[in-house]
Amino acid sequence: MTFQEELQQGIPSTLPEMPAYDTTINHAPKRKDILTPDEKRLALRNALRYFPKHLHAQLAPEFAEEMRKYGRIYMYRYRPTYPMYARPIDEYPHRCIQAAAIMMMIQNNLDPRVAQHPHELITYGGNGAVFQNWVQYRLVMRYLSEMTDEQTLVMYSGHPLGLFPSHKNAPRVVVTNGMVIPNYSKPDDWERDNALGVSQYGQMTAGSYMYIGPQGIVHGTTITVLNAARKIRGERKDERGERIPLFVTAGLGGMSGAQPKAGNIAGVVSVTAEINPKAAQKRFEQGWVDELHENLDELIPAIKEAVTEKKVVSMAYVGNVVDLWERLADKDIHVDLGSDQTSLHNPWAGGYYPVGYSFEESQRMMAEEPERFKEAVQASLRRQVAAINRLADRGMYFFDYGNAFLLEASRAGADLTPTNLPQQGKASFRYPSYVQDIMGPLFFDYGFGPFRWVCSSGDPRDLETSDRLAAEVLEEMLKTAPDDIHGQLADNLHWIKEAGKNNLVVGSQARILYADAEGRTKIALAFNEAIRRGEISKPIVLGRDHHDVSGTDSPFRETSNIYDGSQFCADMAVQNVIGDSFRGATWVSIHNGGGVGWGEVINGGFGMVIDGSEACDHRIRQMLFWDVNNGIARRSWARNSGSMDAIRREMERTPELKVTMPNLVDDAIINSAF
Ligand SMILES: NC(=O)c1ccc[n+]([C@@H]2O[C@H](COP(=O)([O-])OP(=O)(O)OC[C@H]3O[C@@H](n4cnc5c(N)ncnc54)[C@H](O)[C@@H]3O)[C@@H](O)[C@H]2O)c1
Repeated sequence: MTFQEELQQGIPSTLPEMPAYDTTINHAPKRKDILTPDEKRLALRNALRYFPKHLHAQLAPEFAEEMRKYGRIYMYRYRPTYPMYARPIDEYPHRCIQAAAIMMMIQNNLDPRVAQHPHELITYGGNGAVFQNWVQYRLVMRYLSEMTDEQTLVMYSGHPLGLFPSHKNAPRVVVTNGMVIPNYSKPDDWERDNALGVSQYGQMTAGSYMYIGPQGIVHGTTITVLNAARKIRGERKDERGERIPLFVTAGLGGMSGAQPKAGNIAGVVSVTAEINPKAAQKRFEQGWVDELHENLDELIPAIKEAVTEKKVVSMAYVGNVVDLWERLADKDIHVDLGSDQTSLHNPWAGGYYPVGYSFEESQRMMAEEPERFKEAVQASLRRQVAAINRLADRGMYFFDYGNAFLLEASRAGADLTPTNLPQQGKASFRYPSYVQDIMGPLFFDYGFGPFRWVCSSGDPRDLETSDRLAAEVLEEMLKTAPDDIHGQLADNLHWIKEAGKNNLVVGSQARILYADAEGRTKIALAFNEAIRRGEISKPIVLGRDHHDVSGTDSPFRETSNIYDGSQFCADMAVQNVIGDSFRGATWVSIHNGGGVGWGEVINGGFGMVIDGSEACDHRIRQMLFWDVNNGIARRSWARNSGSMDAIRREMERTPELKVTMPNLVDDAIINSAF
């Protein structure tokens, strides 16, 4: 059977051969055994509803065994044996080009070079699922291969509810992931719902088919580390002159693996701890980290030497980050910048490994002794914070990296009491989040966010052309850019000019470029024009990470620099996805849970296929404008000064835009009223 026929077939009518369990690739840890015996029967009944009756007797024990062994029913037998990767768009059987583009994006998210646990359909972050099982994947590919541009595919947490009649300007796919009644949104509710096969954790770009491999995060991490280093250099110039900053952090996984590369680009010495030797080795082989060290006794002198000799280098410590922090504190090493990118959005199921236990012992404990594991994680977090506090007392600037580190550590009882009074209305942890100090005021408040695109031809020459066009747009904008966004535009221009040379493509021919509303729109229009002229050979898929200006309400991350008390509201993210859906998105998605954990965030995204048509020019203008300015208007209403300036400028450019502006009141008047 050809690849095309296999896609069109959906669920095969006869049982496929069981593919071998591949031990050479990274597999998801065994999930918590949370279901009661009755619930296990329900989970099995749920799984079997995808199959005709005559297969039930054979599949039931097989699926029950998967549940027992892995904690989930992945339906491994149905994992396709053809290679999984983003093919050029014409290779997908389709009746509508938009659907073909979505198939390409889905296969990219499951490509073993791209995905973290490809056989469990997890793209990144430990639990960021594209689908819950392989049968959902097969059904979706079939629906997409047969859908017309007058139908919409409805996705409930990985499950395709079906194709419904719609119209040409409607999204082709509407995705919801992990949407639950708010009172049922605790981590164990996810474990239960996911084990029952009724919900999934879509992370951000995993369940929304918009992951583009590690480069997606390199750009964001680079501008964060770059600006953190600038902050330190600026504040401490007199004290330490041209001293090269030392940056210590943890995690060499899916996204955290970008830290050492970003450290090198930002010109610092970086040390990243990683407990999983396979993950550390992978990053080393890819050239994302320069050195691997397994022994703290030889690592500490190597750090001292690099700092003294001002050598920009990235080192990995293959071990537990708590051991690293404690040793740095004991040895009185001066650390300038500190952070952490372990997967603490998922603390009890493999996101964080407690100190004092081997990697394997932790994996066993989390499945077999979850309560003991939880205590070990919490004790480890308390020790980690204690060591960080000692270094911070000596001048280290520590920031939370959007992984719920401060949140989970505070829940574990770590000492995170602010050392000075927090600003009114600010989250009152001892350390800021990277959004409070860096990403929020410099980027999100002005509309800069992780815009991205994928060339559906799969041809690197198209990507090269798109890089050039994007650089030309930014160069033009820079000529007249206001002072407050000049620096950001210049950094982004530098990024896009260097992007091709940095060899960042893994999987599809994709590019990320932080851009604001004006930049995103102008770049997209330039692409559409180039497709029209034939300068770019095939359609382009536009999209973004959900880690953005408008798409995400996340009180300890994307919206942690909202100080009017509305950081726990999710109107912005919900409005965003609704607004995108009727302004021209090809697909939209809204998720519970993302980088910071189930129940902690609502985030949404979109994909838009542009094919050179005038209709696409219209969609670009309509949708990208809303997709960014929604968030700027909300941030402006929260009295964020950068956003107030940005939205005023937008109102001057766009007379139809009328945003409600806040009036600022003197503190003295407020204080005298009580
Ligand atoms: N701020 C941002 O822009 C941003 C971006 C990406 C990811 N995140 C968050 O960062 C976290 C990491 O994302 P990821 O995709 O890299 O996840 P991941 O699970 O692929 O990687 C985390 C890594 O941390 C390692 N680790 C866990 N505990 C450790 C310990 N005690 N010591 C040393 N290493 C340890 C794990 O082995 C793993 O490789 C997530 O919570 C994610 O949501 C934030």
